[in-house]
Amino acid sequence: MTDLYAVIGHPIAHSKSPLIHEAFAKQTNQDMRYEPILGPLDGFEATVHDLIAKGYKGVNVTVPFKFEAFKFAKQPSKRAIFAGAANTLSFADEVRADNTDGAGLVRDIEGNLKVSIAAKSILLIGAGGAAEGVLQPLLEAKPKLLVIANRTLEKAQDMVKKVERQKSDSPTTLTGCTFADLQSQQFDIVINATSAGLTETALPIPNSLFAKNCLAYDMMYGRETPFMQQARQNGAQVADGLGMLVEQAAEAFYIWRGVRPETRTVIQQIRNLPKA
Ligand code: ATR
Repeated sequence: MTDLYAVIGHPIAHSKSPLIHEAFAKQTNQDMRYEPILGPLDGFEATVHDLIAKGYKGVNVTVPFKFEAFKFAKQPSKRAIFAGAANTLSFADEVRADNTDGAGLVRDIEGNLKVSIAAKSILLIGAGGAAEGVLQPLLEAKPKLLVIANRTLEKAQDMVKKVERQKSDSPTTLTGCTFADLQSQQFDIVINATSAGLTETALPIPNSLFAKNCLAYDMMYGRETPFMQQARQNGAQVADGLGMLVEQAAEAFYIWRGVRPETRTVIQQIRNLPKA
């Protein structure tokens, strides 16, 4: 019997996840189907119950349901607990939740872009759900310094406090600040986890931020954001979040199927799609 999976979000029509999982399934000979489902804004739980009743094996969860998905699950993983959000649910005897976003980011940076995080200085811009979802896996890659910069200082500080309650022997100096505090600092890796790119808004960050051979990574994909333009103009190597998207999907696929798909060709395949 064909195993059934889905991605639930609102909106969902733009999602590349069905194409990605279809490519993984073909490549690894898995008998499965994966479809997009538009979840009603007030009906996430009912949608999941319905899918479980129909025998689905698992779902990916995207905006705006990642927090609800986490609360819904009986068995959350460590990384889902840290993020307080889940993007992957598995339906076994109980509902298990995981968050593969951060692992996807780290794999893209280290595996695909060949930039090691260990002992580097990292700037994470943003302190919303996207930033929170990747913080723990970034710390596990053992940077020397990780600065969280956010427009609203308090949110960056809250993220730092949350980690400090949990970590014990991390080699990383972790601080929170606002954009004005970045004037005289340089970083090896700068990650944009804000939603500013959605509205084509430039971030008030200095041009001097990007160290020599800096990697500037925008978690958004699909177009060049003002952040990416600024980084490029200042000599950084620039990457968008498409690799992260495919890598987080690969990690979910591995959780469900126990097989790790090859991602490089799939990233290329999605990049070559005609623009919507
Ligand atoms: P997401 O789930 O995408 O992280 P979110 O939780 O709403 O969405 O968080 C959005 C992030 O982008 C926040 O860090 C937000 O900054 P504030 O915490 O100060 O609101 C940041 N952000 C959004 N628009 C921005 C802009 N124009 N300039 C700077 N930061 C922006």
